[in-house]
Amino acid sequence: MKPKILVVDDDRYTRALIEQLMRHSAQVHLAENGEVARQLFEAIDFNLVLMDQRLPQDTGLDLLREFRAQRPKLVAILITGHADVRDAVAAVREGLFDYLTKPFEDLEALEAVIGKALELDSAYREIDSLRTRLAIESGAPDVIGQSPAMERLLGQVREVAALDTTVLLEGESGTGKDVMAKLIHAWSQRASQPYLEVNCGGLPESLLESLLFGFEKGAFTGASQATPGYFEKAHNGNLFLDEIADMSPKLQSSLLRVLQDRSFCRIGSTSPRKTDFRLICATNRPLAGEVKAGRFREDLYYRINVVALGLPPLRERGDDIIRLALHFLDRYNAKFGKQCGPFTPQAVRALEACRWPGNVRQLQHCIERVVALEPGGIIDAKHLGPSCECQLAPDLQDSAAPSPSPSLAYQEARAEFERNYMRRLLEAAGGNMSEAARCSGIPRQNLYVRMKRWGFVTE
Ligand SMILES: Nc1ncnc2c1ncn2[C@@H]1O[C@H](COP(=O)(O)OP(=O)(O)OP(=O)(O)O)[C@@H](O)[C@H]1O
Ligand SMILES: [Mg+2]
Repeated sequence: MKPKILVVDDDRYTRALIEQLMRHSAQVHLAENGEVARQLFEAIDFNLVLMDQRLPQDTGLDLLREFRAQRPKLVAILITGHADVRDAVAAVREGLFDYLTKPFEDLEALEAVIGKALELDSAYREIDSLRTRLAIESGAPDVIGQSPAMERLLGQVREVAALDTTVLLEGESGTGKDVMAKLIHAWSQRASQPYLEVNCGGLPESLLESLLFGFEKGAFTGASQATPGYFEKAHNGNLFLDEIADMSPKLQSSLLRVLQDRSFCRIGSTSPRKTDFRLICATNRPLAGEVKAGRFREDLYYRINVVALGLPPLRERGDDIIRLALHFLDRYNAKFGKQCGPFTPQAVRALEACRWPGNVRQLQHCIERVVALEPGGIIDAKHLGPSCECQLAPDLQDSAAPSPSPSLAYQEARAEFERNYMRRLLEAAGGNMSEAARCSGIPRQNLYVRMKRWGFVTE
């Protein structure tokens, strides 16, 4: 379904221009004054409102305040004249998405701003619908993931969760392995049974051993009473062994025996006990490499590598970056009792361009920090701060800062910039036109024409 846009402007030319520009990709409704705009707004759930500041009886900003009191997450753009800079600044400060100045000189830029605003609206809506879905699947953790890479992964998780098979989760630090293990449990037939997790890298060998196997009274100094271990407690449920690559060689061979026999003995006892748990393991160092380096037993590797699922790094998740940022924004606004947001287009671009070496955890901390430190209102790129490395990715930096020779005429220099930019953009997007359109904020069709002009695409 096409998004719905409301254009409120008393100038017939402006209304017609925006309608012409957007009518193929959106359902455009027009209002020439505040009265008509109010009636339309009552009746239709708009994805975006473009509002002129100077209307016959109203000021655009006041009307938008009225609309936003009814729908706080309304995405809106204020259209101002050159003389109304103060209104424009007020609009952005109050959290409107952006402002545009009349007369429109650059139609591509206009289309790009509208496109970005619509993306923000759809991100808000997706999060709301996801919340409802998750509330229904009670017990499941909050998982944001609608990018193609995450949709694929979540499909696989759903399938394997229902089977009783061992799962190995591999992915860089902060990509969500813990979250995925909990999701497997929540979606499995064992969901109402116990879920136990232990970080194999965080405990000394003897402590981890007694935690997993349990012990009899008097098995060692301090064992004042018999205690069941996780192998026993996880019976009928799921056991999550995190950072499995950090397990000591001795424990690796004990675990192998448990998995082979589906039985174990408590420390200090020789009578075997049966257990039936489903094992989920996670590692941020690829296990195959650990085997090759002689640090992980090959036979154990084959036992646990039944279904391996790879968590994509955040930088490969496209729009999920913004969805996650909004999700964390809501969470920390609620936690700290603040009203920060929305993000300016510059902040959105910075979030998208960051490489996020610490993945989702790093993004989460970045947003938590902003909400904690800022008093409220819009979040601009500069608020994201250098600590979260939200600068342009290195491969986009060159293209963003070209160095045309000063001896070129302006037009030529511009052309050289564009050619250079388009080439780097296409490279960075791996030749994928939709991805390039998303990264650059240039509508796909438009981008295609430019790429063709420079000979980067042939058909
Ligand atoms: N898809 C997601 N949706 C929402 N929150 C997420 C998602 N993925 C991760 N998170 C959040 O990001 C943080 C890091 O995730 P998690 O602890 O699962 O990562 P990890 O891969 O286990 O990291 P490590 O390798 O360091 O143990 C957590 O606070 C988690 O709630
Ligand atoms: Mg983890």
